[in-house]
Amino acid sequence: MSDKITILDTTLRDGEQSAGVNFTRADKLEIARMLEAMRIDVIEAGFPAASAAEFANVQAVAKDVRGSAICALARAVPEDIDAATEALKPAAEPRIHIFLNSSDTHLAHQLRKSREDVRALAGAMVQRARTYVADVEFSPMDATRADPDFLAEIVRTAIAAGATTINLPDTVGYVLPHRLHAMILDVRAKVPELGRVCLSFHGQDDLGLSTANTLEAVRAGARQVELTVNGIGERAGNTALEEVVMALRLHGPALGVHVDVDTTKLAELSQLVAARSGMAVAPNKALVGKNAFRHASGIHQDGVLKKRETFEWIDPAMVGNTRGTEIVLGKLSGRAGFLARVRALGVELSKEREEETFARFQALADQRPMVDDAEIRAICREGAHA
Ligand code: KIV
Repeated sequence: MSDKITILDTTLRDGEQSAGVNFTRADKLEIARMLEAMRIDVIEAGFPAASAAEFANVQAVAKDVRGSAICALARAVPEDIDAATEALKPAAEPRIHIFLNSSDTHLAHQLRKSREDVRALAGAMVQRARTYVADVEFSPMDATRADPDFLAEIVRTAIAAGATTINLPDTVGYVLPHRLHAMILDVRAKVPELGRVCLSFHGQDDLGLSTANTLEAVRAGARQVELTVNGIGERAGNTALEEVVMALRLHGPALGVHVDVDTTKLAELSQLVAARSGMAVAPNKALVGKNAFRHASGIHQDGVLKKRETFEWIDPAMVGNTRGTEIVLGKLSGRAGFLARVRALGVELSKEREEETFARFQALADQRPMVDDAEIRAICREGAHA
């Protein structure tokens, strides 16, 4: 029996918390439609109480998208919950997501409330949201730095008040995978009621560990994961959707879980979000970076030319990469890569000419980052006229 992992995409909410990003209504609709087409389960469309424009943006997504649940964020205050409820009115499947600080640092310095006040507030606000919608998510913010007993207490209270999803956020990207695993087992043991609701994890990438943490959360029992396209988000960003979805697609069966996402649109989705957010994707970004399926060194090129799986175990078509496997010629390339390109360009070299043409290629490759097809043709022509 394989459990389905619910994918909550928060590109339009937490992703928009990237410094310098402001999605227009058209951007949000375009991205949300693509997420829906890829069968993303839940789309967190925004934070309606933040501004009039944000309210209208969430409302527009809620009206337009019918195939995914639409989620709106709210602080644990009545005004936010009411704004989220109103913005979500047109949604086919509305979800209100309430968050509330849970670590002592946050309680003392940001919220300035006691643990008892926070626990009571969590219960009252979840209850309020449940009078409006059937689907309420509760996030004890900074859960990974919270006191474990208080975390259990606030989670128990939220479930008793009607929360349907409990999300444990690693708000500042603090936790290590093995510690997160232990934390989740601890809260599950302390709050058996968690078995009745969906347990979720939300990771930030301050230490570059958010994908590893998210997969560890799944191993520890989380059945929803919260992600953003290209990992955009506050500070160093959130957990990259393409990484987790592909890791679960490829390794999920061994973990007893699966995802129901059309991964063949991941490359296009990544480009769309990069264009609309203005945040370029690094060339070496896993799965969707320009170099993800490009091979530059001679040993790797030789292996891939003999059998792709030697150095490229993921099929580029799985993520919708239309360029496919690429051999990039430069100073580290060997004969095999060079001659394969020569043949692919339709140039025939006699055995005797191969050596001197390759030597000319190496001399040129030493002077630049890569050698393109026009230059290869020119090198081959030069030899022919010598
Ligand atoms: O990082 C965080 O804690 C959040 C919560 C609102 C889930 O974004």
